[in-house]
Amino acid sequence: MFRSLISKSLARPSSRSFFTGSSLRSDKLFVHRDTPENNASIPFEFNTENTERAKAIIAKYPAQYKKAAIIPLLDLGQRQLGWTSLSVMNYVAKLVEVPPMRVYEVATFYTMFNREPVGKYFLQVCTTTPCQLCGAEEIVKTIENELGIHVGQTTPDKLFTLVEVECAGACVNAPVVAVNDDYYEDLTKESTISILNSLKAGKVPKAGPQSDRQNCEPAGGLTTLTTPPTGPGFKLQAELL
Ligand code: FES
Repeated sequence: MFRSLISKSLARPSSRSFFTGSSLRSDKLFVHRDTPENNASIPFEFNTENTERAKAIIAKYPAQYKKAAIIPLLDLGQRQLGWTSLSVMNYVAKLVEVPPMRVYEVATFYTMFNREPVGKYFLQVCTTTPCQLCGAEEIVKTIENELGIHVGQTTPDKLFTLVEVECAGACVNAPVVAVNDDYYEDLTKESTISILNSLKAGKVPKAGPQSDRQNCEPAGGLTTLTTPPTGPGFKLQAELL
C-alpha cells in the first residue's frame, strides 16, 4: 500500500519544485558543519588579560545568573579570536555553567557574532531605505569593484570581508559603512575609495561623517531654532509674572 502510494506520487509530474533558488546566505547563521578550522576539538581559552576581563564581567551578575554574561563573553571571545568559533561558544558555556546549546542559541540569534572567519577589516554596509535613497547601492558597487569581491566574500589576502546589513542606526548620516567598531558616514564614491585605500595602506582613517558635518546636524545649515530662545515667562499674562 505504502509502496504504491510512493510510486504513484513519483509518477505524477511535479508542477512545482520545493526549492529553486541558490542557497541563502542566512542558512549559514543557523547551521554548523564541522570544518578543519571550526570544530570542537580546536582548543580555545581566554588569554590572561581576557581572563581578568571575563572575571570582572561575570562578577557583575548574581552567582545564580552567570548566564547573563553570555553576550559580553562571546564578544570578548570574538575579539580575541577574530570570530566566534564552536570552541569559543563551548568555552563560554563552560564558564557560565550552562549547556552549550544555550550559548549556540544566543550566538545564532545575534548577527554581531561572526560564526565564520572574517577579514581584518569587517565592512558592514547598510542598504536599508534611508541609506539606499542616499546612494548605498553605489557604495556597495564601489567597494565590490575596489576590492574585487562580492557581498558575503573575503578578499584573498584576508584583509576585508564585505557584508550588507539592515539599518545601522545612523540614518541621518546615510549612507553608512561600519568598519569593525567604527562608523564612516555621509559616504560618497570618492570618500569610500579613499577609506579603502587608507585601510589597504595600514592606516585607519578618521571615523564619523566624511562630509563637512561634525555630527548629525542639518547638512544645509539650521532649519529650526534659528532665533535666540525667548526665555522664561514668554507670552505669560503680566499678572502671572
Ligand atoms: Fe542606514 Fe539607518 S538606514 S543607518
